[in-house]
Amino acid sequence: MPPRRRSCLKPAHQSILLWHVLVFAWYLRNYLGDCAQNGRLVDLTHTFDEDTIYWITEPNLRLNVTHNGTAPGQDFWYQKDEFSAATHGGTHLDAPSHFAKGRWSVSDIPLSNLVGPMSVVDISRHVLDNPDRHLTLDDVLEWERVHGPLPEDGVLMVRTGWSRFWPDKKMYSGTDKVKDVAGLRFPSIQPEVADWLIRNRKLVGVGIDTMSVDVPNTRPSVHVTLMEQNIYGLENVNNLDLLPESGAVVYVMPMKLRYASGAPCRIVAQIDQGGHSASFALCVSPNYLILLMTVLLAVYWLGHEMVGILKDAI
Ligand SMILES: *[C@@H]1O[C@H](CO)[C@@H](O)[C@H](O)[C@H]1NC(C)=O
Ligand SMILES: *[C@@H]1O[C@H](CO)[C@@H](O)[C@H](O)[C@H]1NC(C)=O
Repeated sequence: MPPRRRSCLKPAHQSILLWHVLVFAWYLRNYLGDCAQNGRLVDLTHTFDEDTIYWITEPNLRLNVTHNGTAPGQDFWYQKDEFSAATHGGTHLDAPSHFAKGRWSVSDIPLSNLVGPMSVVDISRHVLDNPDRHLTLDDVLEWERVHGPLPEDGVLMVRTGWSRFWPDKKMYSGTDKVKDVAGLRFPSIQPEVADWLIRNRKLVGVGIDTMSVDVPNTRPSVHVTLMEQNIYGLENVNNLDLLPESGAVVYVMPMKLRYASGAPCRIVAQIDQGGHSASFALCVSPNYLILLMTVLLAVYWLGHEMVGILKDAI
């Protein structure tokens, strides 16, 4: 009987190699974790509660839990409640009728205008802690140089980073004094952007992660310009930092209030399969990655074994 051939790799080396490959695969899986986001839903809505920030002149949300206990004379639990709120507060939709005569109120907006491609123009690095830095036309043109023209029937979202201050009223809106309109300060949108958008692009909505699409204490030109064209606004949007600059689909779901100029709104983004941002382009399914690493390890190890067998045969 021929002597049993020794593997080229000592058992200790084999296990070290295996260990390295597994650690590397695990690291890559986490590094490419973004990939797992494809098809993922992201909630762009602040939760409505007693801390919700409303437009400075408007009353806050009130939730009145009118029963929370065993139903009288019954054997089951029963909770019911009533709420009242201004329409312009928290994460909400501004219907075109808010600033344009005869334009759509909330329930008039066609469903097809409430679902579409979303573009995120990120000015957070320019804004930092400066509430007087507003979206400029150059910011939009810079986005277009990278991603192409803003998609038709889409929603443009402006990311200032201000949602990180929510629900701190002083940081978020510039003032925590009741009805202190003059004290409002936060980043917003320059009127020139709205003028350019309605002439050159075909959007259905414009949103922002601050209290208003208009610069505080100025004529509300952005509202007026957009809403004349039946373009709606979205204010106090959340979580824009979790989204690619292009390639997500947005679902805008305002409470369907007839005649209203605004409504609390659930906004959800779905990150596209395939993706369009640089980090998303790299995407490989993490499971395929681990499979690939395993196959490579097996091939490497078998190769060494084959070399050993051939050496023994000679
Ligand atoms: C809560 O609702 C009940 C039932 O409608 C009403 O009697 C009560 O006054 C309300 N409370 C507040 C604080 O509004
Ligand atoms: C309703 O009652 C349950 C059980 O006591 C409690 O956990 C919950 O916080 C109550 N909800 C409200 C809104 O008070």
